[in-house]
Amino acid sequence: MQPISRRSAVLLGGLGLTGAVAGGTGLWWSLNSRPEPVTGETLRQPPALSSSGGVLETSLEAAPGQFPLAGRQAGALGYNGGIPGPTLRLRAGEVLRLKLVNKLADPSNLHLHGLHVSPQGNGDNAFVTVDPGSSFDYEYRLPAGHSPGLYWYHPHHHGRVADQIFAGLFGAIIVEDPVSVPASAERVLLVSDTSLNGAGNVAEASEQERMAGREGALLLVNGQANPRLTARPGHRERWRIVNCCVARYLRLRLDGQKLQLLAMDSGRFRSPADVQEVLLAPGNRAELLVTAALGQSELRAIPYDRGAISGMMGRRGMGPGRPADREGYPGPAGTTLVTLDVDGDPVPPAAVIPAGTAPPELRSATVAARRQLVLDTPMGAGMGGGMMGFTINGRGFDERRIDTTVAAGTVEEWVLVNRSPMDHPFHLHVWPMQLIAENGRALETAALRDVVNVPANGQCTVRIAFQDFTGRSVYHCHILDHEDLGMMGVIEVR
Ligand code: C2O
Ligand code: CU
Ligand code: CU
Repeated sequence: MQPISRRSAVLLGGLGLTGAVAGGTGLWWSLNSRPEPVTGETLRQPPALSSSGGVLETSLEAAPGQFPLAGRQAGALGYNGGIPGPTLRLRAGEVLRLKLVNKLADPSNLHLHGLHVSPQGNGDNAFVTVDPGSSFDYEYRLPAGHSPGLYWYHPHHHGRVADQIFAGLFGAIIVEDPVSVPASAERVLLVSDTSLNGAGNVAEASEQERMAGREGALLLVNGQANPRLTARPGHRERWRIVNCCVARYLRLRLDGQKLQLLAMDSGRFRSPADVQEVLLAPGNRAELLVTAALGQSELRAIPYDRGAISGMMGRRGMGPGRPADREGYPGPAGTTLVTLDVDGDPVPPAAVIPAGTAPPELRSATVAARRQLVLDTPMGAGMGGGMMGFTINGRGFDERRIDTTVAAGTVEEWVLVNRSPMDHPFHLHVWPMQLIAENGRALETAALRDVVNVPANGQCTVRIAFQDFTGRSVYHCHILDHEDLGMMGVIEVR
């Protein structure tokens, strides 16, 4: 038996799994013979919970347990006994009541990523702490004009966000379309990554992995490794994809099939555009329409270079670096997420797609304030000196400090500057951002994003309408290790 370091004892304690390690029973992920993930299972869908009579009221219990991951039982964390948790489905104008029951060994809380709801009180309040053994009643009111689309929920207790998501705590939220998009099938694909240790429990991340942003050895869709889907030629499927990975970027391709991008993050485009590939930074979502063509195709995540912080770990710098250089990282062909088999008699073409409501255009709006937010990873700023700091405008997160004060009802323009040699996906709660320009290049189409990738040594410009809600919330890097290490700021709208 390997000695357990204090940190891993703490983490395993947090997962409630120290017993499993000590007992040594059912240890299928042995240290020297790591079994291959089971592939080719039929794609599962998380159970759906839908609103009725204008309300969705349910509870989410976060607890440790044994869950099927990559086709084997693994010690992890789940909501309501599953990874992913249930899919919550509701409409604009409705009320969502969620009781979070914390059966973890550590504090947690809940965040509804991307939803435009109040950040105050028992709303989408990132400052709430739900202690182990206790529960908290959240209530969220979606405005009548809330954008339809794909959102997600995950824990947001500062310092533990990456660990808890990596261990399995996440689920999808769907705000239904006012006019439905005709599709032969609708699938939720929650993409996550994780690593298991020799005992078959979710592994802890090292200090270096946290600084680089950990990437798990297993890349999963709804907890499955390369599951299988079938369709008939001509079927039009709607795939709702969330990047739930702590730090991994997903550059997705589905060669051999007709792909259209219906939506990115919140809302949807007026009409879907033909695409070859989509890049999802951690936290981003894409809704794809797949028109099936005969044959077998693979949804693949192909390598994306998100940069590296050099100078600390020798020649290669500290991870993840160029994907091809990384040990165990897939070659240029990438990792297969899902295999689609299209077979049988063709079906008649699918009905026309109704036009979506174009997102609000902020480029012609009056800008009340302009700000610059600088994301940086200065050396010597971390604990103990000699470590790396994770800062926004030179400061690490302090929940007692308000970093940005905004006048309610105004539109602001923010320039997001990245002074570090790795990408940082910038995320703002509650108020969606319109991406205006990337590295000085103006964007043609108005799109609402709640996660905007700020390239290494580059910058992005966004506009934000601070409407509907006041209160205190946060913005942060959605490489959640970076958020936990301090790359987060407090915003107050008043
Ligand atoms: Cu998905 Cu504040 O995060
Ligand atoms: Cu969020
Ligand atoms: Cu970051």
